[in-house]
Amino acid sequence: MCGIVGMINGHPVAGDLVSGIQRLEYRGYDSAGVATVEEGRISRRRAVGPVSALRELIEVVPLSGHAGIAHTRWATHGSPSEANAHPHVVGEVAVVHNGIIENHDELREELLRLGREFASETDTEVVAHLLDMALAEGLDPMTALDVVSRRLRGSYAIGMITSRDEDALYATCHNGPLVVAEHPGAAFLASDGAAIAPYVSEICVLECGDRVELRRGSLRIVDSSNQTVDRPRRQVESREDEHSTEGYGSFMLKEIHQQPAVLERQLAAFADPLTHELRLPQVATIAKQDQLVLSACGTSFYACQLAKYWFESLAGLPCRVELASELRYRSPVLGAGHGAIFVSQSGETADTLAALRMVRERGVPSLVVVNVETSAMAREATDVIGTLAGPEHGVASTKAFTAQLFTLLAAAIAVGEARGHSTRQQTADLVRTTLGSIPQAVELVLASSARIHAYAATLADAPRAIYVGRGPSFPLAMEGALKLKEIAYVHAEGFAAGELKHGPLALVEEGTPLIAVCPHDSLFDKTLSNVQEAAARGAQPFVLTDADGLGRALKLGDALALPTLPRLAQPFVHAVALQLIAHHAAAAGGKNVDRPRNLAKSVTVE
Ligand code: G6P
Repeated sequence: MCGIVGMINGHPVAGDLVSGIQRLEYRGYDSAGVATVEEGRISRRRAVGPVSALRELIEVVPLSGHAGIAHTRWATHGSPSEANAHPHVVGEVAVVHNGIIENHDELREELLRLGREFASETDTEVVAHLLDMALAEGLDPMTALDVVSRRLRGSYAIGMITSRDEDALYATCHNGPLVVAEHPGAAFLASDGAAIAPYVSEICVLECGDRVELRRGSLRIVDSSNQTVDRPRRQVESREDEHSTEGYGSFMLKEIHQQPAVLERQLAAFADPLTHELRLPQVATIAKQDQLVLSACGTSFYACQLAKYWFESLAGLPCRVELASELRYRSPVLGAGHGAIFVSQSGETADTLAALRMVRERGVPSLVVVNVETSAMAREATDVIGTLAGPEHGVASTKAFTAQLFTLLAAAIAVGEARGHSTRQQTADLVRTTLGSIPQAVELVLASSARIHAYAATLADAPRAIYVGRGPSFPLAMEGALKLKEIAYVHAEGFAAGELKHGPLALVEEGTPLIAVCPHDSLFDKTLSNVQEAAARGAQPFVLTDADGLGRALKLGDALALPTLPRLAQPFVHAVALQLIAHHAAAAGGKNVDRPRNLAKSVTVE
């Protein structure tokens, strides 16, 4: 949460800095700011609201410095206000910060006792004061960062400029993402390579405890034991089309429509097109274990919930699924014979990363299913499978979710074969008939979304909505409800259809929307009976089914036939239909689907 960018160049950098944080708006968008050093002074502009408000401000009141830092904020300490927006300037120092300083209260008390005055409610301002004091004591900026970092508890990435030196930027990180890069005459830092990709082709990903001094054309990185180090370089690609909605009106809708192409890409990467063998050597270690724990947060957690059905049925592996935010604070029974799978779009969600580290400390092998392959989770896991979804900008996860599902389904098939639970021929059949059918089926759902559009508009003002499903459709019901909450702000809950009678039915009133995920499979009759019971009490059903289920579903209310698919492929078309329902409901209600209130895409704080 929060995005930081820093640049030093041979010309004024404020405009480029603002473009940089605009590319990081998925990390936070309630206020933004930029500061540069000009003629021995720090000058700063800050604005409440999206980064575009800051851009308008600097067009009216420009900054001329050639070295600067910028920030887009997701408020943790203090409301979104200009005073709380970064950079925070104290004396000779300006600071931007992503993460949390957990001991900021005690540091603030100490600084107040020393007569220091605070201009904001943020945890970040203590860092600016401490750095200013360290510089005033005569420490050079790199040593000051070291000394101050040792006083901080929490996870953070910090960028700093000082009025003493117009030709340098400084940064450090501790469990917070930070990348740096240089090219002749310039140097850059950012929370994510995407922010600086238009300027460089390679980035270095900093490790926990690294500090870096950036000058025009040079980087000096020192590690936590003060040794000068080189960090491996990774390629970054600048694709400006990734930063545009390309006529879809929103990133979310564009990303929903990218799903067939992502699924095709995954199919080509994971399976041999001729023999239909799976090429997923990363599952070898997990396949040798007796039990699996799958863990994640948010939408990725629902991907784990679904994958549990697949690992059990396709690989005969006992599985449990845990919210990472809970797993990390328990004393779970984990050890020999256990394997762990962590699922994350960003690879930097604080709770998932902490759970991964806890599991690793117990010697349990981990497989990370992750979209951002440069992320901390990808670096720290035993094995990694990239989900190949490409950058996802919409805060609500769509293509990253179906890409996670596809990866997990392929992994479960591969684990099944590795364990002798299925034969090579069975794998090839599943690849051809199941995995191979998914991209085109998703394309069909997208091509015929007019029905969904019409239905979704009726949800925009609903006080609540209920989602139900059974078996693998139950996690989908929860994911569908999460999507509607996230972007349409309609209170929605997903229930196991069999649980309706045990409480949720009391919520049903005349006209309560009830969305049923109900493919025509062995559970169809059971789920439909539950829908009928709710309809008899006034619920208005919208049943997502297929051609074989449509006739009976229509007798209860509204229904939609999605493509008929092999059982294991059905969740993909339902997932996409649920995304469209949420998107169109939010759009009908005039909501900003890409930037829902109070949320951010990368949750790097607990
Ligand atoms: C946030 C995002 C969700 C995402 C969750 C987990 O809440 O808004 O879309 O599912 O974090 O993120 P991860 O990057 O670990 O998948």
